[in-house]
Amino acid sequence: MRLPRREFLRLGGISALALGGASCIRPRPEMRLLPSLAALPKPFNAALPIPPVAKPTKSDEATDFYELDVRSAAARILPDLNTTIWGYDGTFPGPTIEARSGRRISLRLQNRLPVPIVNHLHGGRNAPASDGYPTDLILPANGAASGHVHDALANVVTGEREYVYENVQRAATLWYHDHRMDFTAPQVWRGLAGFYLIRDDEEDRLQLPRGDRETPLLICDRSFDADGSLRYPALDSSLQETPGVQAEYMGGVLGDVILVNGAPWPRMEVANVKYRFRILNASNARRYELALDPSPPGTAFLQIGSDGGLLEMPVAHRTLRIAPAERFDVVVDFSRFQPGTSILLVNQAGTGSTARIMRFDINRRERDESVIPTRLSEMTGPRTEEASVTRDFDFSFQRFQHGWTINGKPFDPARMDARPRLNATEIWRLHTDFSHPLHLHLVHFRILSHSGRPAPYDVGWKDTIDLGPGQSASILVRFTGYRGRYVFHCHNLEHEDMSMMGNFEVI
Ligand code: C2O
Ligand code: CU
Repeated sequence: MRLPRREFLRLGGISALALGGASCIRPRPEMRLLPSLAALPKPFNAALPIPPVAKPTKSDEATDFYELDVRSAAARILPDLNTTIWGYDGTFPGPTIEARSGRRISLRLQNRLPVPIVNHLHGGRNAPASDGYPTDLILPANGAASGHVHDALANVVTGEREYVYENVQRAATLWYHDHRMDFTAPQVWRGLAGFYLIRDDEEDRLQLPRGDRETPLLICDRSFDADGSLRYPALDSSLQETPGVQAEYMGGVLGDVILVNGAPWPRMEVANVKYRFRILNASNARRYELALDPSPPGTAFLQIGSDGGLLEMPVAHRTLRIAPAERFDVVVDFSRFQPGTSILLVNQAGTGSTARIMRFDINRRERDESVIPTRLSEMTGPRTEEASVTRDFDFSFQRFQHGWTINGKPFDPARMDARPRLNATEIWRLHTDFSHPLHLHLVHFRILSHSGRPAPYDVGWKDTIDLGPGQSASILVRFTGYRGRYVFHCHNLEHEDMSMMGNFEVI
């Protein structure tokens, strides 16, 4: 934050005014497609990549130690052009970190990029110092950037930081990604995201599909410049000084190339058996409605887990609606198709190039020993009657400030928007003007009510809830684990960077 937040918003307002003309009509920005200037690659050419699994540099009785370099690298995403990405160990997606419930992970990140970074483990329950508060920067090792942030509590380091992840939580599909103040959207767009999977005994006891039949799918949209570089409408393409995007993209940046694990519209060869897919929408702003084509009669996706791990019982879906940062853990049964058939994973919420995602080619017969039980897990948690506090949060665009706000206010690290007590259960009522996928750090919650979205998508433990325009929801959340300062925010990353974020402090 080079400028005090209010100043930034005011300047944003002025540039929008200069671009848009009339001062009194500044319509709420919509999400907008940024077209690629490079030729779009042919779909279903690339084989689905599987992100490498990170290896610990050492282990002791309680902890596995990992070290990752955050650096730029050349990637082959388009067939004939190189793309410079920013990646954990130079890969996009980053290496998958495999964690065991109850076993600690120490993750040491070296910042070899020319800009500050922050790492957040999304869905992780960790102490504030390791949570990746947006101003807790890791400055570049070469001292190239200053770490001036308007936050008296910021813990800024140079070169590297150790994050400690306790993994005192159940098996679940988490992900890690950049969270730098004001610059999260462009830095994730360049590639700073990866899977973090927690496993536990409860899940191991089930005979779910495993090995190469358990596949993480990180889905995101991107756009490419004529030279193959990632295209993004940043005001300052060096990401050094001025945050934000060109005014017409303030509603969110949409790309026209769909990547799965970093490859455009890939294909995956599968046997005629059940597969488990951990689906993550790592897009900045795009929502998907996933479907199979041809769709088998009955269930297309059998959901076994949500953001916070296994469901009590599987839930059958014809289509899957997934907003930025949400995870759906699903089983697809390919035994219903003949070997030789190809099945498309399509996006019913997209058009043209964004209407398709990837292809499954059923190329062999194999035995299937996996079993999806009717009862997956025990879920205990707070009851509604235990809620002692109810809070209301309104997520909206403020024309005067020309920014995305919570309860009318832009993010300010110095302002606490809620002070829940440790172990207290609360009900948070969320209201929106526009589509906002809302995320709380530290906690998982249950969705009590949700206008506008079919209930089957809301089962299980969530850390991100998608609200459509003009919707409201109530969530039941228990603040356990740690005291301290955490953020909650919209996970449309352009909204997040343009101030739709708040603080809560567990006391
Ligand atoms: Cu995935 Cu605060 O974010
Ligand atoms: Cu939003």
